[in-house]
Amino acid sequence: MNILLLGSGGREHALAWKLAQSRAITEDGGKLFACPGNPGIAAHADCFDMDVTDHDLVLAFCEQEHIGLVVIGPEAPLVDGLADSLRAEGFAVFGPSKAAAQLEGSKGFTKDLCARANIPTAGYVRTTSLEQAKAALDGFKPPYVLKADGLAAGKGVVIAESLTDAEAALADMFGGAFGDAGAEVVIEEFMAGEEASFFALTDGATILPFGTAQDHKRVGDGDTGPNTGGMGAYSPAPIITPDIRAEVFSRILTPTVQQLAADGTPYCGVLYAGLMLTEEGPKLVEYNCRFGDPECQVLMMRLEEDLAEYLLACATQALGSMERPRFSHDTALTVVMAAKGYPATPEKGGLIDLKDAEAEGAIVFHAGTVRDEEDGTLRANGGRVLNVTARGATIAEAREKAYAAVDRIDFASGFCRRDIGHRELARAKARG
Ligand code: AMP
Ligand code: GLY
Repeated sequence: MNILLLGSGGREHALAWKLAQSRAITEDGGKLFACPGNPGIAAHADCFDMDVTDHDLVLAFCEQEHIGLVVIGPEAPLVDGLADSLRAEGFAVFGPSKAAAQLEGSKGFTKDLCARANIPTAGYVRTTSLEQAKAALDGFKPPYVLKADGLAAGKGVVIAESLTDAEAALADMFGGAFGDAGAEVVIEEFMAGEEASFFALTDGATILPFGTAQDHKRVGDGDTGPNTGGMGAYSPAPIITPDIRAEVFSRILTPTVQQLAADGTPYCGVLYAGLMLTEEGPKLVEYNCRFGDPECQVLMMRLEEDLAEYLLACATQALGSMERPRFSHDTALTVVMAAKGYPATPEKGGLIDLKDAEAEGAIVFHAGTVRDEEDGTLRANGGRVLNVTARGATIAEAREKAYAAVDRIDFASGFCRRDIGHRELARAKARG
């Protein structure tokens, strides 16, 4: 079976690495294509470029190459309805329809769905004008949580400590700071607690748990500085205990999948639930309609199954016939190496030499890298550049291996956090 993977980040490198180990590729003579891919993905797939907003172009490629499965990595093509266009022509696609991708594409949509299905989450109000939003602040206490409704590349959330700050942020949002994404703003009750991520595959009927992880969103050590796409992650996240897992499954994931199916917009793909573990139990912060980045990298390091089989079963409504997927009991941990200046103004073009970073079993997933056409050197080409990932019997061991690999890499214009996994490491130490 030939597979087409869309995307170019560290998430897609991890997916390509795992897909390339699938029987469809290793035994059945299938080919893996990636669009556009990156220099790391090129080790596992034929990379080529095409405009994926041109659905006819993607369809023509799938027909020509007899693609048996399309795996859509990022959210933008999903929210843009690419899965619908491909399914309409009979292709198997891993990723939700445009209507179901609204779970990530519109915060207001998700909050309304949670309200209808009685899913635990923060109280909220949807607003469509500055006046309405300012008036709605009266119903909330600081800190105020303000969210641009649409896709804003992870930057659409403001947590304002005071009423003055909240009003200023609302003026920015309605003033066009997030473009169309900010035409509507959701105001939410603030939830206190620790965040963790829960992943599940669903074909609209069956739901299979697909691992837990914890991300580190702030740019600096000790969770300081601005928010980023994620500076590192580990999996599993033991803070999601078996009891919490059962509660997330029954009170959050199941009603979500059932409600979407009842609304005539069944969900097919991975559901990424961002959770707040509050004193009152787990509550939903947000849904994403794709794998997390860098969470996917640590999930793939632990997955002990044939990835293509699971994604195909999901895409063809056959998850009911699959066993619950097995993951290694090891911990996997990934450290993001970013270009200096990230997230505001990442420096482009910095020279990278990976040296023998993978010598001790670590894997370096590429995100924003590019191969210089003239001299063949590897260079930084984005904010988050490398994901240095390792496995160990404990989080301490995984972390030691990952940072040992980081320290072998020459990337003078890069930086990373030095404390990935700090919360769980402290808990592990306290447990002895
Ligand atoms: P989101 O894009 O919805 O995940 O929000 C980005 C980040 O803002 C989350 O990862 C949380 O750290 C924080 N956040 C969002 N909503 C809330 C909330 N209701 N209470 C507390 N923190 C929140
Ligand atoms: N790492 C956070 C995300 O993928 O949204």
